[in-house]
Amino acid sequence: MLSVMFTPEGPTVRELAVQALSSVERGYDLLAPKFDQTPFRTPDAVLDAVTDALAPFGPFRDGLDLCCGTGAGTRVLRELCEGRTVGADLSEGMLTVARTGTGSGGDWVRADALALPFRSAFDLVVSFGAFGHFLPSARPALFAQAHGALRPGGRFAFPVAAPPPVRSWGHWALLGFDVAMRVRNALWRPPFVMYYRTFPLGAVRRDLAAAGFGVDVLPLPRLGLRPDGSPRCALVVATRPR
Ligand SMILES: C[S@@+](CC[C@H](N)C(=O)[O-])C[C@H]1O[C@@H](n2cnc3c(N)ncnc32)[C@H](O)[C@@H]1O
Repeated sequence: MLSVMFTPEGPTVRELAVQALSSVERGYDLLAPKFDQTPFRTPDAVLDAVTDALAPFGPFRDGLDLCCGTGAGTRVLRELCEGRTVGADLSEGMLTVARTGTGSGGDWVRADALALPFRSAFDLVVSFGAFGHFLPSARPALFAQAHGALRPGGRFAFPVAAPPPVRSWGHWALLGFDVAMRVRNALWRPPFVMYYRTFPLGAVRRDLAAAGFGVDVLPLPRLGLRPDGSPRCALVVATRPR
């Protein structure tokens, strides 16, 4: 399975194991040079679907890619924002790759998403593939930071995937991963917080509303359908009221 998921240029199983036994920050510092060759980098198809779904809300002036990693999401900001684009991430290693990457204009800031150095600075905040790193108890603080970084009327947007059906291989794979991480975090320090099943849409909507956002959920059918015909992915668009 791993050989299917990773290219020869990607990290070895040993490198992934060392990463997973580190802290989140150190783990991504280690993974950074090969991150773009892993399936953890958000694919362009997802970025393009999000860009098209957000376009009717724009154009925007300034944009932030929260937990930007090597900068995948700034592709969306470059399409939709007329002002400055900023990527923020905890890992200096990931930011170093982002700074040297192709088409990587914009500013790169080392920052914890739970303590952002921005107040009312952006009209669009996007985030991709990072919310598994936040326990449900951290969600109110995370959403408060995004809210505070936006100007009134600004949008906080991120894609979410529907949970795979209980009878599918995907359901058991994600459950198995989360159980393994819970065991790992019970036995090993520092913790590496990364779970797939801790970001359910209903709870996320409630926490966004509690943080002061108005919430819309837009289906992204071109990213695939579930067996029951419902879209596999949706875009959450949370709006800071004017
Ligand atoms: C799976 S990568 C996703 C990177 C990129 N957004 C993408 O879609 O390709 C998750 C990123 O979240 C960052 N991250 C995790 N916890 C963070 C935090 N508390 N503050 C800022 N960045 C964080 C990691 O350093 C890593 O770069």
